[in-house]
Amino acid sequence: MADLTSNRPTRTLADGNEIPLLALGVWQVPDGPECENAVRWALEAGYRHIDTAQAYGNEASVGRALRDSGVAPEDVFLTTKFNPGLRDPEAEVQRSLERLGVEAVDLYIVHWPQGGPTWAWDGMQRAHERGYARSIGVSNFNVSEIDAVRKVADVAPVVNQVQFSPFEFRRELWEACESRGIALEAYSPLGTGRHLRDRRVADVAERLGRTPAQVLIRWALQRNLIVLPKSTHRDRIEQNAQVFDFELSPGDMETLDGLDGTGGTDRALERSWW
Ligand code: A2P
Repeated sequence: MADLTSNRPTRTLADGNEIPLLALGVWQVPDGPECENAVRWALEAGYRHIDTAQAYGNEASVGRALRDSGVAPEDVFLTTKFNPGLRDPEAEVQRSLERLGVEAVDLYIVHWPQGGPTWAWDGMQRAHERGYARSIGVSNFNVSEIDAVRKVADVAPVVNQVQFSPFEFRRELWEACESRGIALEAYSPLGTGRHLRDRRVADVAERLGRTPAQVLIRWALQRNLIVLPKSTHRDRIEQNAQVFDFELSPGDMETLDGLDGTGGTDRALERSWW
């Protein structure tokens, strides 16, 4: 388990690389000042993990913000994702590196299993072997899709990034990942904002003198998940990082676990978009 009393807890991935548990996610943040500001504010607030993707179209802004921040590049864990609508993960990561202005990313992920779970893995391994990506993983993969990759892999995926929150508490998927040495990364941990309005989350938050966002992020941290809340507002970015100075009791964790609407599924998504 990560040490959650540290203000920047990390966990060690199965390949030995260390990953900060809290990241700023920049899905749906347009390229340009909005994205640059969000990343800069996050770095100023102490985030050391930024999660972007080729499909987000904002890697150049992430790169500019990193360079302008004054934070040493080696101190920031950087994730990008292969867009499986394209053909070659190795060629595409090199384009990402150019846009990001870095020599390697820390983590490179197949964004979703379009065209089947295994075809891209060879290219992902080449990206890893050539040193363009220090770790490689997947996103939106079900257990069966993960097992298909593991079967053909020389280098196994070390993360699976999925939609995950108390309302999407995919317990079977999570347990299967952990038992295979795959760390789970929680995207949309606030339900893209929807879960912040839930009365039951608000009740826990009010009792603890916290905000609903902090409660949902803390729930993920206490499950040893990597968690990727998105915001473009400075006050919220700061608020979402103030999650290392309180604890949810076992009773609160249980209440939140009970919000699951997936039936503890082993599926990564209820409906796929590809
Ligand atoms: P905004 O970017 O305008 O600040 P998720 O991380 O689940 O994708 O949720 C992101 C959504 O939640 C965005 O709409 C974001 O809005 C909003 N959000 C993020 N942090 C907070 C917060 N602390 N309080 C209220 N809304 C938030």
